[in-house]
Amino acid sequence: MIYLDNNATTRLDPRVLEAMMPFLTEEYANAASTHPFGLRAHEAVKLARQQVSQLLGCEPQELIFTSGATEAINLAIKGVAENYASRGKHIITVQTEHTAVLDVCRYLETRGYEVTYLPVQPDGLLDITTLQQSLRPDTILVSVMLVNNETGVIQPIQEIAALTHAAGALFMTDATQAVGKMPIDVETMGIDLLTCSGHKFYGPKGIGALYVRQRKPRRVKLEALLHGGGHERGWRSGTLNVPGIVGLGHAAELCRQSMKEEASRIGALRDELEAGLLAIPGTRVNGNREHRHYNTTNILFEGCDSDAMIMGLEGIAVSNGSACTAASMDPSHVLLAMGLDETAAFSCLRFSLGRFNSLIDVEHIINSTSILAEKLRNYILN
Ligand SMILES: Cc1ncc(COP(=O)(O)O)c(C=O)c1O
Repeated sequence: MIYLDNNATTRLDPRVLEAMMPFLTEEYANAASTHPFGLRAHEAVKLARQQVSQLLGCEPQELIFTSGATEAINLAIKGVAENYASRGKHIITVQTEHTAVLDVCRYLETRGYEVTYLPVQPDGLLDITTLQQSLRPDTILVSVMLVNNETGVIQPIQEIAALTHAAGALFMTDATQAVGKMPIDVETMGIDLLTCSGHKFYGPKGIGALYVRQRKPRRVKLEALLHGGGHERGWRSGTLNVPGIVGLGHAAELCRQSMKEEASRIGALRDELEAGLLAIPGTRVNGNREHRHYNTTNILFEGCDSDAMIMGLEGIAVSNGSACTAASMDPSHVLLAMGLDETAAFSCLRFSLGRFNSLIDVEHIINSTSILAEKLRNYILN
């Protein structure tokens, strides 16, 4: 299997598994217990908190461990909405956000909040003036993702955060596709809340984190979603997932050490892949190619059905980014927001590379995809 679906999830790095193993076997104590056994688990959690905070440029105590990005997003948006409701009930986000953000916003609309879903330009970038015009005195939160999971488009969050703060609102970013892969500094970027997930950067599934600003210039307050034993400073009760947290921390540390090298190596592979795929007639890239994450390319193959391509690319894992539910296959809301029609949106594939890909994978995929695209088009013509 050649795996080019790293934006969906990444392989657990064997070094991360090794770090987790003691905590899945003999070091099973509860991190809240005060006996020496528990203290060792507590120390391991403390180290992991430091490792993740170093990756984000925050203080360790500004992090809340969650079950992943979806939970972190729910806690951030609902937690802010409830806490700041007396100041206002208006939230701004973008049409191309992950469904975790969009669905929380839709839920809040049923609870009396008003949400503005900003459009994007055909290249996937937010138009800053539309944001400026949408900010209101009762806006409490602006949530804009850093890297889009389908196209890799990078939003100018530093600029967005500055405008948000000038209007007196909080700025949140879903950085699930960016953490561990590009430098992030919550201070210089002006981030108040940030979400991430371990399985997107070679850590385990079922663990993630929420950063909540506690330092100047503003201390963010949150209402908890989960009540109970008061873990994570009362923000997220429930016995800590020590092996998961250790894995998250170790994965963060490995990413921090190899970030520069991986960016240039994986970026070169993506460029090679993209050039090869664009040599196939009737193809083009979706999304701004300059402001784009180095591991992703989303390509339109005119006249080819993406599901047929996924099935036809035997031994290769890629994605079409469409939301698949039991009842329906919807076209990608991200591509529709960028102005593609339904037929075009159903003709796109996302290739997302990662740490374990090689040039051989890339060459194989270019070759298989060009043969398949020609076959599918001939099939339609005949
Ligand atoms: C941008 C983005 N946000 C949020 C999520 C949800 O992450 P998790 O699976 O950890 O809940 C994903 C994962 O698909 C994502 O790509």
